[in-house]
Order: sequence, then structure tokens, then C-alpha cells
Amino acid sequence: MSMAPGPGILAAFEAAKGFMPVDEGLALYAAAAGAARLGLPLLEVGTYCGRSTILLADAARAAGVTALTVDHHRGSEEQQPGWDYHDPETVDAELGLMDTLPTFRRTLHRAGLEDHVVALVGRSPQIAALWNSPLSLVFVDGGHTDEHATADYEGWAPHVTDGGLLVIHDVFPDPVDELTGQAPYRVYVRALASGAFTEVSATGSLRVLRRTGAGI
Ligand SMILES: C[S@@+](CC[C@H](N)C(=O)[O-])C[C@H]1O[C@@H](n2cnc3c(N)ncnc32)[C@H](O)[C@@H]1O
Repeated sequence: MSMAPGPGILAAFEAAKGFMPVDEGLALYAAAAGAARLGLPLLEVGTYCGRSTILLADAARAAGVTALTVDHHRGSEEQQPGWDYHDPETVDAELGLMDTLPTFRRTLHRAGLEDHVVALVGRSPQIAALWNSPLSLVFVDGGHTDEHATADYEGWAPHVTDGGLLVIHDVFPDPVDELTGQAPYRVYVRALASGAFTEVSATGSLRVLRRTGAGI
């Protein structure tokens, strides 16, 4: 299986709303393509408008598995009106609340990947509490507060199968570099300290860890 996205996929990724740079996207794709060989679903926390979902979906398609993506679609703290990461186009004019679900659905349709993705719409801890199946990869890119990043780790990391991957975005070891807080870095440190995960690669702020032990 190729470790590079299929034709047109990288262009669709670059055209999609979102914040992930291309080098991190390619690293995410390579991780997803490798993990999907385990024959289990891939799961993302933090869909937003589907930029990273495109890559997980294409890797899932190539391996014949499904990509799952979790989001309440109401935006993280830093994406709300008045904050640096706010995009007025993501606001539902009738409700005056953020709603990234319509943009996500258009993004996925345009990329031709709808059949390979199941969108789980709701709060990550609420969905994780109902989840009971092994996953080949968990990609954590949801809320950046300690409350949210910790809940995502505790809710989803236990479902990563042996040899599967835990991928964490926005890991900034140096507080000078971070723009949205260091909670993802603290989760990354915790995952390594647990003894359950071993680091595989680091690209920009993306960290890929492999499950090599129990006891998260
Ligand atoms: C940084 S964005 C995800 C970016 C996306 N992965 C990409 O590459 O474009 C974070 C997303 O997490 C979602 N989110 C934050 N906290 C959440 C929670 N507790 N449950 C579900 N979704 C959450 C927000 O709605 C937002 O869309």
C-alpha cells in the first residue's frame, strides 16, 4: 500500500478549510496508511471542516476499512467569535452558533470520500463512553484545554489496538511556540510515561506513537 495519498487527495486537503500544514498532513497519511493494514477502523477526534479527515478517509479507502470522525461541530474555544481562529463562514446565521458540519459534508463529498467515513456528531467524552471496539489509529485533534485533551486521551487511547497508533496534534514542548495551550503536549508526555506507547515520529507539532504495552 502506498504511503502517499491518492490522486487529487492532496489538492483536496489543501483546498479544505483548516489549519494543518502539508508536511503534517503527509505524516498523518503515512501513519494512517500503515495502521489501516491492521484491518480496524481509524478514528479522529476533531473533524472541524474535514481537512485532516480527507487523509484518514483516503487511507481507510485504500485499506478497505472505515474512518470515524468525532466532533460536536460547535467549535473549540479558540474558534469562537472574537478569537484568532474564528472563521465567520462557519457560523449558522439562524442560530448564531458555529456549525462546521455543512462545510465538512461538502468537503468530503467534493473529495469523493463520503462512503469511507462515518461522522459521529456529539461531545467526544459522551461518544467515547459508549465505545467498545478496537481501533487501528486514534488521532487526537479536538479541544485544547486540559479538560478536553485529557478526556480525549482517557476516552480513546485505551481503544488503540496492540501495534496500533496514537497520533497527537499541536504538541508544543516549548511554551514559546504554542498558540492554543500546551494541553496536547501534556497528554503526549503522559502517553509516553504510561509505558503503553512508544514514539515513532515527530513532524512539526504532530507526534505518532505506537501501542507497545498495556496500562494506559
Ligand atoms: C483544531 S479543530 C480540528 C481540526 C481538524 N482536525 C483539521 O485538520 O482541520 C478542533 C475541533 O474539535 C472540536 N471539539 C472541541 N472539543 C470537542 C469535544 N469535547 N467534543 C467534540 N468535539 C470537540 C471542535 O468543534 C473543532 O471542530
